[in-house]
Amino acid sequence: MSDLPYSQACENNKDPILAVLRRVFADRSEVLEIASGTGQHATWFAEHMPHLHWLPTDQPSHLDAVRPRCQAYAGDNLAAPVALDVSTRPWSVERIPSALFTANSLHIMPWSSVCDLFAELGERAEADTRLAIYGPFNYGGEYTSPSNARFDQWLAQQSEYSAIRDFERVNELASEAGFELLEDNPMPANNRLIVWSS
Ligand SMILES: C[S@@+](CC[C@H](N)C(=O)[O-])C[C@H]1O[C@@H](n2cnc3c(N)ncnc32)[C@H](O)[C@@H]1O
Repeated sequence: MSDLPYSQACENNKDPILAVLRRVFADRSEVLEIASGTGQHATWFAEHMPHLHWLPTDQPSHLDAVRPRCQAYAGDNLAAPVALDVSTRPWSVERIPSALFTANSLHIMPWSSVCDLFAELGERAEADTRLAIYGPFNYGGEYTSPSNARFDQWLAQQSEYSAIRDFERVNELASEAGFELLEDNPMPANNRLIVWSS
C-alpha cells in the first residue's frame, strides 16, 4: 500500500474527467492546474495525455501534499508543483497557458477567491484559452440532488466560506472575464465538468 496523499473521490472521478479533457484539451500543449490537492489528477492526466505538459499548483500550505505523488511520477511531462493561491495576484506563473483545470476547489475557497480567479484570468488569459472546472454546482438556486444538499450542510460546518456555488454566478464571472460557455458535462455523483473558452 502506498502512503501517498490519497483521495477516494479523485480515484472515482479521474476517468470520467479524463474522457472529457482528452477531447477539449486535444489541441493544447500545456495545462495549469489550480488546487492540485493530492496530485492524483495531475499524475493521472499527465500519464494519459502525454501530449500535455501539466503544471500542478496549490496554495503554499498545501504544496507538501501535492509534491510526493508528483515526485514519484516517472514521465517527463509533469512540472514540479508551484505555489499558487488564486487570491495572491498577480499569480506567480510567468504566463497563463491556453488550458486550465481545477477540481473540487470553487466550493472550498471563499467566494472572494473564486472572483479573484476569474479576475486574474480576465486580465491575463489570452484568446482561445480553455478553462475546465469540475465539481458540484447548483442550478436556478437549487441543489441537483439530496446528497449535494447534505454535502453543502457539511461544508458549512467545516468553514463559513465554503459552499456549493451557483452555476449562473460562476458563469457570469466567466463571462465578465471574457470566457464563453462551451459545454456543461454531467459527471458521476452529481458533479459537473464545465468548460469555457476565451
Ligand atoms: C477538496 S480539495 C480538492 C483537491 C483536488 N483538486 C481534488 O479534486 O481532489 C480543495 C483544494 O483547494 C485548494 N484551495 C483552497 N483555497 C485555495 C486558494 N485560495 N488558491 C488555490 N487553491 C486553493 C486547497 O488547498 C485544496 O487543495
